[in-house]
Amino acid sequence: MVDRFYVTTPIYYVNARPHLGHAYTTIAADVANRFHAMQQKELLFLTGTDEHGDKVVQAAENENLDVRDYVDMISGLFRNMWPKLNIKHSHFIRTTDKSHIAVVEKILASIYEQGDIYFSEYEGLYCFGCERFYMERELVDGKCPDHEVAPETIKESNYFFKMSKHQDWLIDHIKKNPDFIRPKRYKNEILSFLKEPLEDLCISRPKSRLEWGITLPFDENYVTYVWFDALLNYISALGYPDGELFNKFWGSANHIVAKDIIKPHGIYWPIMLKAAGIPIYKHLNVHGYWNIDKSKMSKSLQNAVDPLAMKDKYGIDSFRYFLMRDMVFGLDSNFSEDALVGRLNSDLANDIGNLFSRVLAMVHKYMNGIVPEIDENVRKEFVLDLESQAEKTISEYTVGMENFEFHKAITAVWELISRMNSYVDTTAPWELFKKKSTRPQLEAVLVNLLEGLRIVAGLISPVMPDTSQTMLKHLGIESALTLDSLKNFRGIPQGTQILKSITLFPRVDVAKKQNGPVSKKASKQNKKQAKPKDEKNNMDDGLLTIGDFAKIKLVTGRVVEAEKLPKANKLLKLKVDIGDEKRTVVAGIAASYAPEELVGKTVVVVANLKPAKLMGTVSEGMVLAAVDDDGCSVLTLDSDKKPGTGVR
Ligand code: MSP
Repeated sequence: MVDRFYVTTPIYYVNARPHLGHAYTTIAADVANRFHAMQQKELLFLTGTDEHGDKVVQAAENENLDVRDYVDMISGLFRNMWPKLNIKHSHFIRTTDKSHIAVVEKILASIYEQGDIYFSEYEGLYCFGCERFYMERELVDGKCPDHEVAPETIKESNYFFKMSKHQDWLIDHIKKNPDFIRPKRYKNEILSFLKEPLEDLCISRPKSRLEWGITLPFDENYVTYVWFDALLNYISALGYPDGELFNKFWGSANHIVAKDIIKPHGIYWPIMLKAAGIPIYKHLNVHGYWNIDKSKMSKSLQNAVDPLAMKDKYGIDSFRYFLMRDMVFGLDSNFSEDALVGRLNSDLANDIGNLFSRVLAMVHKYMNGIVPEIDENVRKEFVLDLESQAEKTISEYTVGMENFEFHKAITAVWELISRMNSYVDTTAPWELFKKKSTRPQLEAVLVNLLEGLRIVAGLISPVMPDTSQTMLKHLGIESALTLDSLKNFRGIPQGTQILKSITLFPRVDVAKKQNGPVSKKASKQNKKQAKPKDEKNNMDDGLLTIGDFAKIKLVTGRVVEAEKLPKANKLLKLKVDIGDEKRTVVAGIAASYAPEELVGKTVVVVANLKPAKLMGTVSEGMVLAAVDDDGCSVLTLDSDKKPGTGVR
C-alpha cells in the first residue's frame, strides 16, 4: 500500500495580515511535510484563507474597500508569503471558492434532511472577534480570553446543530485513541470540556445582520456560521465526496492548529464529520502561542511580528530553525530577537557552522579534499561511539518528527553535532597528521566526520532546506536524501571531491542587530569571527572571548519551592520561577541552607545548561553561589528584579 501523508494548517482569517504566529503553524506543517517526503510518501499539504464573516466585512470597511477586493488582496498576501518562507504547500483553498461553497451546501442540506439541524430562538454572550457564543464559565473576568473584551448579549432566531447527540461517541473515540488529539494536555482539555453536557451549536447568522457568507440551502434568509463553513475546507479541498484526492488522502489527515481553536477542531469538527457519515480525521496536533511580553501575538493586540522582516534580517533557515527549536510544541513561547540571535550564534554559528567548516578545512588540509579509500575495519576501530550516537539520533529524531515534537527531533540532531565536536577534540586529527604511522587513523577519523556531516545535513533538511542543500553539495551529494539512506553510515563514495570550507552561519553581532538588517560589511566582519577552529585554536590561552561568555544565559529566578532530595544529604530540589517558566534545579547547597530559607529569594540561574539527572531528578539549570571550605553563599540581588531578568 502507498504510504500517504495529508497535513493542514488552519485557514487564516483575512481580517489581518500574516504575522509570525501564522508563519509558525505553516512552517511546522512544511517541516512535517518535508519529513514525510524523506520517507518517500505521497503528500498533500493544504493551507488557505477563511474569508466569510463579520470580522472580514468590518476589516474591509476599515480599509474602505469592497469586501471582494479586500479578501482577494489579503488572501494574496498569505499565498505569496509562504514561498518566501520556503514553504511548499501543494494546495491553497479559499472559502470563497465555488467548489468549496458547493460542498458546504451539500453537507448542510444532508444534515438538515436527516433532522440534525433545527430552528430555535437563542440568547447568549457573543464575541464578535471569535464569531461565536461563549458560556459564562469560559470567560476570564467576564471577558473573552482571546480578545480581552466583554462579549455582547445577543438574542435571535437561528438554526442549531445537534451536538449533544454525538457527545458520548466522541468521548469514547478520544479515550480509545489516546493520540487522536496531541499533545496529551489538549486531549485532557477536550475531555474536560466534554464532562459538561454539550450545548447545540448555532450554525447560522440572519442576513439582516450579516450577508457575507454562504446562504443556507434550506433558508435563504440566513448565511452559514463561519466555523461550519471553514472546517469543511479540509474535505472540500480534496474534492469530497467523489474526488480521487479525498479517497487517497483523507485517511491520513493531520490537522495543525494553535490552542485558540481546539474547541472547533476537537469537538465541532469530529461531530460534524460523524453526523455527515464521514470518517474522522487521524490527528489533531495542537501548539501553544507565540507571545510577546506574555501576551499572545495578534493583530488585535498590535504586537505582531512580520515574518518577512525576520527572514530578511537573519536569513530564512535561521528563522525557521529558531521557531521550530525554541517552541516546545504544545507550550507557549516568548518571541524575542535576542533569543533568536542567541540561538543563531550558539546553535548555528558555533555548533553546526564551526563543525562543518572545521571538518572541511581539515579534509582539504590533510587529504586534499578527496575522500580516501579506507579499510572498513580501521574506520570502525576509530569511530568510537559516533556511529551509535548517529543511530540513536536518527531514531529519536524519527519519533520526534512523527509525533510533532519538533523540538525533540532537533535536540537529538544537536546531540550528534555536539558528539562530533567532542570527537574532533578527542581524536585530534592535527596530532594524527604529524606522524606517518597514524595516517590510516587520520583518514578514518575524517571519513567518519564526513559521514556524520552527511547525516546531520539530511536530518536538518525539513527545518533548514537551504543549509542542508549547501552542506550536501559540499559533501559531493547531488540528490536529496531519504531517511533510510541516513541509517547507513557509509554514504560518501571513495574519491568524492569535497568542496572548500565555508561559513554556513555568520555570527550576528548583538549590538549591530538593533540597527536593522545585517549589512554586508557587518556580515564580513562576522564571518571573520566565525572562522573555523582548526588545530591552531587548540593552542588556547584559557581565556574566554566575549562570544564564549555570551553563550551562557544567566537570568534571575525566584525560588518558589524548596525541598530536600531524599537520600542525598547535600542536595536541595528547588522550583525556580525564571519568568517564562518554572524550572526544577537541583543544587548542592543543603549543607548551608534549610529549604525554607531559600523560598522567596531571587537568585541567579544558568538557564541554558543541558538538563542533567541528579539522584533521579532532572535538573534544568544551576544556581550560582560563592563556595569555600565553610560552605556556600547563594548569589542574590542588591535590589529586586522580576524573574527572568538577564544577568550580564
Ligand atoms: N479562520 C480560523 C481557522 C479556521 S480553520 C478551519 C482562524 N483563523 S486565524 O487567522 O485566527 O488563525 C488562527 C491560527 O493562526 C492559530 O490557530 C495558529 O495556527 C495561528 N496563530 C495566530 N496567532 C498565533 C500566535 N500568536 N501563536 C501561535 N500561533 C498563532 O482561527
